[in-house]
Amino acid sequence: MCGIVGYIGTKNCIPILIEGLKRLEYRGYDSAGIGVIKNGLCRVIKQKGKVVELENEVEKQNTSSTFGIAHTRWATHGVPNQINAHPHTDTEEKLFLVHNGIIENYTVLKKRLELDSYEFYSETDTEILVKLIESFLNKGNVLCKAVQYALNEVKGTYGIAVGYTDEPDKLIVAKKGSPLVIGIGDGENFIASDVNALIAHTSRVVYLEDGEMAEVYRDRFEAKTIEDEEIQKEIQEVTLALDEISKGDYDHFMLKEIMEQPLSVKNSFRGRLLFEEGSSKLGGLQGYEERIARSKRILICACGTSWHAALVGEYMIEQFAGIPTEVEYASEFRYRNPIVTPDDTCIFISQSGETADTLAAMKEAKRRGALVLGICNVVGSSIARESEAGVYIHAGPEIGVASTKAFTSQLVVLALITILIARRRQLSLIDGQEIIRELDLIPAKIEQILELNDEIKAIANEFTGAKNFLYLGRGYNFPVALEGALKLKEISYIHAEGYPAAEMKHGPIALIDDNMPSVFITPQDSVYDKVVSNIEEIKARSGKIIAIANMDDEKIGSLVEYTIRIPETIRMLMPILTSIPLQLLAYHIAVKKGLNVDQPRNLAKSVTVE
Ligand code: G6P
Repeated sequence: MCGIVGYIGTKNCIPILIEGLKRLEYRGYDSAGIGVIKNGLCRVIKQKGKVVELENEVEKQNTSSTFGIAHTRWATHGVPNQINAHPHTDTEEKLFLVHNGIIENYTVLKKRLELDSYEFYSETDTEILVKLIESFLNKGNVLCKAVQYALNEVKGTYGIAVGYTDEPDKLIVAKKGSPLVIGIGDGENFIASDVNALIAHTSRVVYLEDGEMAEVYRDRFEAKTIEDEEIQKEIQEVTLALDEISKGDYDHFMLKEIMEQPLSVKNSFRGRLLFEEGSSKLGGLQGYEERIARSKRILICACGTSWHAALVGEYMIEQFAGIPTEVEYASEFRYRNPIVTPDDTCIFISQSGETADTLAAMKEAKRRGALVLGICNVVGSSIARESEAGVYIHAGPEIGVASTKAFTSQLVVLALITILIARRRQLSLIDGQEIIRELDLIPAKIEQILELNDEIKAIANEFTGAKNFLYLGRGYNFPVALEGALKLKEISYIHAEGYPAAEMKHGPIALIDDNMPSVFITPQDSVYDKVVSNIEEIKARSGKIIAIANMDDEKIGSLVEYTIRIPETIRMLMPILTSIPLQLLAYHIAVKKGLNVDQPRNLAKSVTVE
């Protein structure tokens, strides 16, 4: 949801900023802009569309500078066009600012500024912030003070970077609700909304917390709160390697990330399996195990794909640990009056660790005294830092906007947490050992599924003309049906719905005809026969069916048009396997339709606004 990058040093910042924007493009890609100080003047270049459009324009204008900030946008206020793109500037074009987040009280601030004769050229809330800072500069304040005064009047969220031609030796950054990280170089410094944009240049970073800001100079930085109290910040080392955020030989990040799953899943359980004890070891939960196991209730909150993982977690925890578990959309949780007590454990799942609704829900649960745990992918992210304890999924950077490997890794971590609690409650050693053994076998089984890529591609090619799809599964595979449908709509723009297979009779069956394909997730588990009856019901109405079935399922082939056969595992782990063919199906349909699978229209990977 908008990406920010900035540089102050001795090199030409243009290639550094463009490269940084490209690495942040998954955060938003409807327009982009760059602002530099050149010969004491502010120069802003903005372009509608992708970063590459901006790159072409910047090349044409042949500019260079040692000081610059840049932005890739996901529109909130105002359509994506050149005028609304960032950076935004003050009246005299001396001050320029990029912003990630939302200024909620912008109408009030705008009216006040208009009364003081400030004029506005864009439809954005960000321009109000620039003009507000300008109004404090006009009262004789230095930049840092003007930014502080302005931010103290702002309601909402922000990660900002500001440049000012009258104080060209520094850029100012501040954070509330949107991530902001400073990269420490040698005689040069960087800022960005995530470390992906920095790691080509430095591995030493400083994460700002909410309410903090920094004056970043070429050779040092000074951190303080927006109330002007000085603070000491720790410099941290990041271990991310550049090839982890490159596409390599793959056409798309999404395909790379799907194909990486044998390894990403392994990384999620590496060093965490206790074979003899039939349990798991999770460093991030050390000291909290008993409290979690004694919880009266477990509540899992998340959004999007992470919410689907949470649903699988509910099935796991209730079956094996016997603790009542509820799953809630973070966006709903935060705005009702949820019943949460200190006897509850609340788990917040987020790939990015920055989703605004999930973060706010977490803070609400904390206020109500629950034990608050995070399951995140991005190390050092806001949700990870806000949680009392937690588990990283270690899936590695996920760049494709549609989540794939993060989902399967979230399922692994949920299984590990389940077994950790369950072994302290009701799960026998033998059963615990079986789960651990089965988990260890999962990466090899994923390899087998990935070998079906060409077969799945051929099936996908048959369905590019479909306008609607139904995804059906039961039990553990009901959330997989939801996730399969979400993958398809996100990247192929085909309308798809996921349903519990039996519920299909209560409405969706009315839609079935030979133009409405259904995907059945039907491994041979305890509800297999029931799902087969649902298949018969669809067949009787001429619906075409793709089934995800086990290798040795002899019945299914005669019932459905297309069968994708996958290996078996225990029920609780089956979603890790069944979700993968669905990722490939969605991917190939979208590619065949000629769509941009890594950056689907209107979506962003990290949703830092409500
Ligand atoms: C966005 C992304 C989804 C993701 C969801 C939750 O909508 O496009 O892929 O599942 O946010 O994100 P999180 O980072 O909290 O898991």
